[in-house]
Amino acid sequence: MKSISLKSAIQLGIPDIIHNHGKPIKLSELVDALPMSKSKSHYIYRLMRILVHSEFFIKDEEERYWLTPASRLLLKEGHFTVAPLVLLILDPILTKPWDHTMEWLADDRPVSPFETANGGTNFWEVAGREPRVSNLFNEVMSSDTRLVARVLIDDCKHVFDGIESVVDVGGNTGTLAKAILDAFPKLKCIVLDLPHNLVGLEGSNNLTFVGGDMFEAIPCGDAVFLKWILHDWNDEDCVKILKKCKDAIPDKDKGGGKLIIIDMVMNIYEGDDNKAMEDQLFFDMAMMAYLNGKERSEKEWVKLFFDAGFTNYKITPAFGVRSLIEVYP
Ligand SMILES: C[S@@+](CC[C@H](N)C(=O)[O-])C[C@H]1O[C@@H](n2cnc3c(N)ncnc32)[C@H](O)[C@@H]1O
Repeated sequence: MKSISLKSAIQLGIPDIIHNHGKPIKLSELVDALPMSKSKSHYIYRLMRILVHSEFFIKDEEERYWLTPASRLLLKEGHFTVAPLVLLILDPILTKPWDHTMEWLADDRPVSPFETANGGTNFWEVAGREPRVSNLFNEVMSSDTRLVARVLIDDCKHVFDGIESVVDVGGNTGTLAKAILDAFPKLKCIVLDLPHNLVGLEGSNNLTFVGGDMFEAIPCGDAVFLKWILHDWNDEDCVKILKKCKDAIPDKDKGGGKLIIIDMVMNIYEGDDNKAMEDQLFFDMAMMAYLNGKERSEKEWVKLFFDAGFTNYKITPAFGVRSLIEVYP
């Protein structure tokens, strides 16, 4: 009920209406601003009541609604908005797989409930043929990346020391690469992603988009970024990707490059233990349902690194429930 109520509020644009109103809003003003029949204003009253209870809005003594820090993150035009994430996770394309877990468990073939729900087709194939899904997915990735890039550049500058070129593997529409280049204009960046994501994107003198498959080949650079990539894949596929990354960076005897991974390490996080742990567990279930992936403990990560031929690594909890993992050949 919490999730579905939140989805309704975002679809109706309630956080934006309150924000654009410029001051706290009365129920009658909110109803007037919504494309709805006035005979149903009791629905908005009840929707706001549960969302006040969940701390997405505040209701003051004069019965006016205010935004809270949580609903400020739901403004559609907000730089760090998570509205697309809520809409994607609650879209039938990602809720339907949960109805298919029994069939998935009973059948050896499909690797995820998503595949069972979609006749054996995986998420990337569906995104490749349905622009609605890929556009929403890419919006989610861009807004998350804007936030992560800000922290990376402000708090983890050291990762760029001594680096002249970076390759962002699965770099989506280039949000991370562009943020890196804004901060370090002398760098050269290559973004590798599936061809359908790069249609219409133009590079510049120091940004190149390469459409391709990371299981086949990865362009060379001093450092390879993997943000939110490896948790999408099973261990076997991760080792394949990591080996390709190792081939793309300078070996130890040639000065040594590095991988810069941004992903979760189970049980390592900043902030409130209980909420952070719950977040990590939610993401792990999501990776199981949508893809053939998982969230990993330090021990599981280390096994992947060593199996792919890397010799050293450093984990820094830097992005709430996600960490910065530097991996060396
Ligand atoms: C979870 S998204 C992460 C995107 C981006 N790194 C970020 O964090 O915003 C995974 C990305 O991997 C890309 N991808 C999936 N399979 C791929 C493949 N075989 N080769 C290259 N990219 C792939 C997807 O298109 C998508 O952009």
